[in-house]
Amino acid sequence: MTLWSGRFSSSMDSTLWDLSESYSFDHVLYHHDITGSRAHVQGLGAAGLLNDEEMTILLATLDDVEAEFDRGVFVRAASDEDIHMAVERRVTELAGPVGAKLHTSRSRNDQVATTLRLFTTDALADVASAALSLVRSLVDVGGQYPGAYLPGYTHLQRAQPVLLTHHLNAHAWSLLRDVDRLLDARERMSVSPLGAGALAGTSLPIQPALTARLLGFHEPFANSMDAVSDRDFVAEALFDIALVGIHLSRMGEELVLWTSAEFNFASLGDDFTTGSSMLPQKKNSDVAELARGKSGRLVGNLTGLLVMLKGLPLSYNRDLQEDKEPLFDSLRQVLLVLAAMNGAYRSMTFNSSVAQSAADDPYLVAIDIAERLVEEGVPFRQAHEEVGRLVGEAVRERVSLAEVVAANERYSRFIPLFEKGAALDGRRSPGASGPEASSEQFRRLEMRISELDGRLSL
Ligand code: ARG
Repeated sequence: MTLWSGRFSSSMDSTLWDLSESYSFDHVLYHHDITGSRAHVQGLGAAGLLNDEEMTILLATLDDVEAEFDRGVFVRAASDEDIHMAVERRVTELAGPVGAKLHTSRSRNDQVATTLRLFTTDALADVASAALSLVRSLVDVGGQYPGAYLPGYTHLQRAQPVLLTHHLNAHAWSLLRDVDRLLDARERMSVSPLGAGALAGTSLPIQPALTARLLGFHEPFANSMDAVSDRDFVAEALFDIALVGIHLSRMGEELVLWTSAEFNFASLGDDFTTGSSMLPQKKNSDVAELARGKSGRLVGNLTGLLVMLKGLPLSYNRDLQEDKEPLFDSLRQVLLVLAAMNGAYRSMTFNSSVAQSAADDPYLVAIDIAERLVEEGVPFRQAHEEVGRLVGEAVRERVSLAEVVAANERYSRFIPLFEKGAALDGRRSPGASGPEASSEQFRRLEMRISELDGRLSL
C-alpha cells in the first residue's frame, strides 16, 4: 500500500516502480530528513496541530528511527519509495496512530527541498574543509624547499624563473577562491522551503519562520512555488564543485608533466604511484591522471542538472528527483580527489637541481637585460628589439645568450644577470615570483586562510 492508496484502484506497475523509486540512492539523506521532521513536529505543536504528548511521542520516535539508520539496522519496506516515505512509514509503525499526523500541512515537495538544502549545506562544508587542507599542504610542501625555483611557463614554453612556493601558491589561491565560493553558496542556500506544502502553502496555521529558525536557516521562503521548485542551490553546488575539479585537473596535468622523465621536476611517493602490469620499470602518476579525468564527470553532472531543469514548468515536477545522483556523485568524487591529491603533494619530492637548471636557461634572462636597458633610459620597445637581436644571434650561431652578451661590448656589463638565481632575485614587484615579494604574498595567503577557516567554523 502506498501513502496515496486512497485514490487508486490498482497498484503501481513494477517498471514504473523501478523507474521512480529513489530510496536506493536517497537513503543517505536520512539524518537531514529526520532533522527536518523534528522541526516540522515542533512547528505543528506551536500551531496547535499536535498536543504536547503527541509531540513528545513523535520526537522520541524520530530519534528511534534515526538510531536504526545510524546502527545500520533500518529495514526498508517494499512500499518505501523514497527516504521520506520510509521514515514516515517507520515512525507510524513505532508510534501508532499519532504517526498519521506527522505529514500534516507538509508535502514531500517542501520536505525534499528542505532535506536537500540541509544536506548540501553540510556537504559543501566538507568540500571546503578538504580544499583548505589541500591549500595547507601546498604551503607546507613549498616550505620544505626554501629558495627552490623552476621555470615558469607560458604556452608551455619556458618564460621566467619562479620560486617553487610561488608556483604552488598560485594553485593555493585558486583553491581559496573555491572555498570562498563554496561558503558563499552555503549562505545563499540558507532559505527554508518548509511550510510551502505541495506548492501553494496551506490553510493550516503553521509558521514557516519558526521552523526555518529551528533548522538554522537564515530565513523562510517568500514564495511557496519557488520554494518547492528551486534547485539553484544544487546547480550552484555542482558548479562550485566542478570548478574545484577543474583546478584539481590542471594541478593533475602539471604533476603528470613534472613526474615524466622529460621534465623530471618531481616524483611522487611509492604510496601514491602505481606500477605497470607489463612494464617493470614503470612508475605512474595515476593519482594525477584521475584528478584530471574525474573533472569530466563533475562538469557532466553540472550539465546534466542544468539540462534537466531547463524545461520545467512551475512548480514541483518529478524530474527534480534527478537532482540527487549528480550531486551525490560530484560530492563523493571531489572529496576522493581532494584527499588523494593532498596525499600526493605531501609525498612529492621536488627535484630542485633539475628544475633549477632548467630555470637557469640563459634565454630566460633576456627580459632582465631589456629591463636593465629600460632603467638606463632606453624605451622598452627599443630594448626589446635590441635583446631580440641578441637572442636571434644566439639561436643562429647555436651559442648561449650569455656568450653573445659577453662578446658584445654594449651589453657585457649585464653578464652578472646570468648568474644562477639572479633573474629570480630581480623579480621584486608586488605579487612577483622572487623571494623579496614572497613574504607579503605569504602574509596575505595566511590571512585569507584564517579568514576562510573562521567562516567555515561558524
Ligand atoms: N523522492 C522525491 C524527490 O526526490 C520526493 C518528492 C516526490 N513528490 C511527489 N510529488 N511525487 O523529488
